[in-house]
Amino acid sequence: MKRREFLGAALAGAILPGCGGGGGGGGPMMGGPPAVASALLTAGQPLRALVPLANTATQAGRFEGALAASPASLGLVEGRATALWLYNGLFPGPVIEAREGDRVRLALANGLPIDTTAHWHGLPVPADQDGNPMDPVRPGATRLYEFDLPAGAAGTYWYHPHAHGTTAEQVARGLAAPFIVRAADDPLVHLPEVTMLVTGLRLDANAQVSASGPMDFAVGRQGEQLLVNGGRLPVHAMRPGATERWRILNATSARYLRLALDGHALTLVGTDGGLLAAPVGPLAEILVAPAQRVEVVVTASTSPNARFTLRAQRHAIDAMGMGTYAAEDLLTVATTNDPPAAPAALPGALRAMPAQAAATARKRLVLTQSGMGMMAAFGINGRLFDMNRVDLVSTAGETEDWDIVNDTLMDHPIHIHGTQFRLVARESRGVATPAPFAAWLDTVDVPSGATATIRVRQDRPGKRMVHCHILEHEDAGMMAVLEVRP
Ligand code: C2O
Ligand code: CU
Ligand code: CU
Repeated sequence: MKRREFLGAALAGAILPGCGGGGGGGGPMMGGPPAVASALLTAGQPLRALVPLANTATQAGRFEGALAASPASLGLVEGRATALWLYNGLFPGPVIEAREGDRVRLALANGLPIDTTAHWHGLPVPADQDGNPMDPVRPGATRLYEFDLPAGAAGTYWYHPHAHGTTAEQVARGLAAPFIVRAADDPLVHLPEVTMLVTGLRLDANAQVSASGPMDFAVGRQGEQLLVNGGRLPVHAMRPGATERWRILNATSARYLRLALDGHALTLVGTDGGLLAAPVGPLAEILVAPAQRVEVVVTASTSPNARFTLRAQRHAIDAMGMGTYAAEDLLTVATTNDPPAAPAALPGALRAMPAQAAATARKRLVLTQSGMGMMAAFGINGRLFDMNRVDLVSTAGETEDWDIVNDTLMDHPIHIHGTQFRLVARESRGVATPAPFAAWLDTVDVPSGATATIRVRQDRPGKRMVHCHILEHEDAGMMAVLEVRP
């Protein structure tokens, strides 16, 4: 028996049904997902292209746009209206597409009944423009966010609310969308591009987004249906033999996506912070933790009129036995009847990734757990989030190594605001595994019992959030404040 399964079995007796430790209110007594109407969501529609946010700037080198977060009602299930919270009435929200060097100005109007913010996940924006929980936008208010996109920032990011204690609820109701930054000298510009935003949706028997219960607060929101660009099991048509670049974003609360495409190998070309130094592949599968993004190059089979499934394979993140995800289909690739496309060449080098400076400081973050089963609560260095406390201090421009030690019974995707870092190595039971290639990340998976060592530098002073991106964990307090001093 594997250690993880053993622990799951050993702890099963510690799971207390019906004990609402996590908050959230209104959750089902047993903590499991309520009756689900989303099975009725129409499957098999063509993959939708995301709607771009209009750039209203009149000068070159600027991106200006307006976002309104408001309640909306959509007919996702035959004959019923589902109440959602959406950006600009769109499900998912509009994709922001800007360029390196752009000055960005985005107005956010809060039409929700509660505080919200817009957080620019992964982008190197000033701390006071990053939609932190200490900078709420009140109901009825509008706030302007303004920042520059520096050279080297090209990549696939996203935006979502970061209000104190309600991030999970706001994302579950529909507030999340991609933010793509393009480079002037993109080595893959010759490839057709597809953006795939993966979100989770859980509807109750009345086709309404269900509240999170105790089980969700323990191991992340359970029982969601996976949607791609707002559609269930959409069909993406490809010419046989065609090569495409896919930007895949994991905007689910807690669902690790161990992606595989039947009958195809995947080539990894980019991660959270943009392109790798060189393509990595062929790979049979790629693990995308919650909040992470990947850029993948896919060459379709040369067979015409064939169908292949992109799926998230079975993945367990929890030795308590509650957070195991069965394999789930995400999308169908359908080849057309056209003659095969000529093979597209992939450059051997994608971008320069010089080694980081040696670290001159070291930090240790221990992910901690109190309680078991549905009573589990997670902290950082034994503490829960307090926005008025500073937990960690760094100096702008200084390179640091952080050892993130997972002393809990489940895996956690740990995210740091305001910068991109690199994984140095993971260590588990005395065995260290160096990162196989250099990649820019803003979120790193730290499996149960393992230590992830990352090398990180913050360049802009101010307060930054460090947290687990399982959104229920974040809301329940698995978050620390990092103060970056000039
Ligand atoms: Cu994606 Cu602190 O967030
Ligand atoms: Cu973030
Ligand atoms: Cu967590």
